[in-house]
Amino acid sequence: MEQVMRDFFLFLSKNKSMTRVAKQYGLRFGAGRFVAGETIEKAVKVIKDLNDRNLKVTIDYLGEFVDNEEEANYMADNSIEAIRAIGREKLDSQLSLKMTSMGLDISDDVVMKNMRRILKAAKENNVFVTIDMEDFARCQKTLDIFKTLKSEYDNVGTVLQAYLYRVADDIEDLKDYKPNLRLVKGAYKEPANVAFPLKKDVDDNFKKIIKMHLLNGNYTAIATHDDAIIDYTIDFVKENNIPNNLFEFQMLYGIRVERQEELSKAGYTMRVYVPYGTDWYGYFMRRLAERPANVAFIAKSMFRK
Ligand code: FDA
Repeated sequence: MEQVMRDFFLFLSKNKSMTRVAKQYGLRFGAGRFVAGETIEKAVKVIKDLNDRNLKVTIDYLGEFVDNEEEANYMADNSIEAIRAIGREKLDSQLSLKMTSMGLDISDDVVMKNMRRILKAAKENNVFVTIDMEDFARCQKTLDIFKTLKSEYDNVGTVLQAYLYRVADDIEDLKDYKPNLRLVKGAYKEPANVAFPLKKDVDDNFKKIIKMHLLNGNYTAIATHDDAIIDYTIDFVKENNIPNNLFEFQMLYGIRVERQEELSKAGYTMRVYVPYGTDWYGYFMRRLAERPANVAFIAKSMFRK
């Protein structure tokens, strides 16, 4: 049953008409628990509050699968607006973004132009930028873009997904770039010929790549809400004398909030991924797919005044 719900929410996450309807209704039906607001002003307030509680942030202007140049440029403008807000308000925040929102599906020229102007603004404001990883079909292209940009800018990193069979090879392939990588389980629906179908295999592979990347001496962001993975990392860094400034934990805004504070109080760097903007629908559906139990929470919030 859980798998059926997962597939259902992942199917909904890509539905364009639903995205349009969701935009009209604003942040209702519980999405506000996972999204900081529809405007940069609201996001800034949320970030200040998180920073006050010793939580670092990576901010994401929501939007994906953009299919025309104007929209891609508009998305890039909004990311630059977020970067300037980070600089102006002296926020402890990085920026995350998706290549499809910068024009990946339109042309190399559009996506690279947008990324270069974002990284330039980010450099001026001392902001680090992480390129989120999307579905498998776009993985190689995203890594190629990352490699090109990393040779021009030092303030850019990307994400690798533990559910992909290829991921250990990618860690090896990227290691000479000394990349700052976020490691995650993976959030998209992928076929069994490219990704492990079983959670246990994904978890084992996750531990394997955390170990590989840390032993390579490269900065590692372990992005998970899973205590088994967090505990594995803590034991591993202690056993191998890996300093706390070589890794960090990351979680999504609104998920396991108490655990975020616990890890921060224990002396670990804890970064919260804070999405904002009107295009929250696909992101919200993927969060429901990860944990159908959240549907009960959403159902309650729909009936609450
Ligand atoms: P898993 O889903 O196995 O959950 C472990 C436990 O965590 C659950 O048993 C539950 O207790 C808790 N939990 C998990 N999700 C929850 C929820 N929604 N609500 C409440 N509790 C929950 N993916 C991707 O493909 N590309 C990317 O670029 C990113 N970027 C990214 C950034 C950050 C900061 C995070 C935290 C995650 C991502 N992801 C991602 C998503 C990632 O791939 C994955 O889908 C989710 O993190 C869920 O997997 P977990 O590792 O949390 O474990």
